Amino acid sequence: MNILVSGGAGYIGSHTCVALMGAGHSVIIADNLSNSKADTIGKIMGIADKEVTFYEIDVTDTEAVDIIFKNHKIDGVIHFAGLKAVGESVEKPQDYYYNNLVSTLVLAKACQKYGVNRFVFSSSATVYGDNKVPFVESMDLLPTTNPYGETKAMSERILTDIAKANPYFSVSILRYFNPVGAHESGLIGESPNGIPNNLMPYVTQVAKGKLEKLKVFGNDYPTVDGTGVRDYIHVVDLAESHVAALDNLKAGVHIYNLGTGKGTSVLELVKAFEEANDIEIPYEIVERRPGDIASCYADASKAKRELGWTAKRDMIAMCRDAWRFENGQGE
Ligand code: NAD
Ligand code: UD1
Repeated sequence: MNILVSGGAGYIGSHTCVALMGAGHSVIIADNLSNSKADTIGKIMGIADKEVTFYEIDVTDTEAVDIIFKNHKIDGVIHFAGLKAVGESVEKPQDYYYNNLVSTLVLAKACQKYGVNRFVFSSSATVYGDNKVPFVESMDLLPTTNPYGETKAMSERILTDIAKANPYFSVSILRYFNPVGAHESGLIGESPNGIPNNLMPYVTQVAKGKLEKLKVFGNDYPTVDGTGVRDYIHVVDLAESHVAALDNLKAGVHIYNLGTGKGTSVLELVKAFEEANDIEIPYEIVERRPGDIASCYADASKAKRELGWTAKRDMIAMCRDAWRFENGQGE
């Protein structure tokens, strides 16, 4: 199939393009490079040993999107493009609501115009708010603490209403837990701008000596060792789930948790990183980070049952691949 991948130059999108081409699909990337680099396109082609068509466009631009649908017979859309920094979304709510909602509306409208009925959307476990773990797809969503999370919950509702109005429209809503790691080639991975907010990129930068020590946000949560628990998933496993989601699309809206189903605490991740890479990670315990919840992990059984997909790579692989990518950057 010809798959239009919005945000395909980004972290999860680039790995998914590789997985799609590995499964025999052709990929057309639409990305404005607001949080990625043009040379990622060449790296994707190098890993997959296949050509990619790249449009440097903003997917909130109806006319630019229309040109892609005119130029190619698109069979399906995977919509990754979005702004994703939680703290920034509190400072710039308009930018987040505009970019993340209008992009979804424009792509869904183009699908309607050109009779494309396959749509896969990147949502987030953040929509569960502070529900009881493990999170199950059937749970009522709770308000999130920030505009970013709200854009995901709203996009889910928009797509659900569009699918209600068009019985042929097939939407897969994928709720990602915590993607980490990188492609095993070390060529593509996550390169956050500035000081990382997320745990794994922070740890790799401490390991590299770019940052002095990890600040562990709180050790008084009701968890195994008091530190926050998350469901880390290798980005290549996550990428592969998109191929399974496309293969198993059916009419209506279907929601899937994409995680391993296993919670790992901050200190457990640090220990795994030290073991996997034989490097010590200095850390100190500091105050809790506002907005954080104690535990977040998936009930991942629905994706296994309906998509035949489960995460295969363990925490050691996640830590090893994250470190390999950090080491390769700039070399
Ligand atoms: P990313 O920032 O690496 O990738 C997003 C890509 O979209 C970037 O290449 C950026 O340049 C592009 N983009 C943004 N707005 C655009 C627009 N209007 N037009 C065209 N391109 C645009 O982020 P990621 O980590 O790969 O995340 C992909 C998706 O998954 C996002 O929607 C994100 O919210 C969601 N998600 C990510 C995580 C995570 O931890 N990484 C967790 C849950 C959900
Ligand atoms: C963050 C986002 C969330 C998003 C998710 C996946 C926030 C508040 N939430 O969540 O909306 O869906 O990423 O992209 O940003 N930690 C430290 N020290 C650090 C960094 C993190 O101790 O320097 C801890 C956190 O307190 C948490 C765990 O590590 O317990 C994971 O943090 P992080 O990687 O930021 O992910 P989330 O908190 O799950």
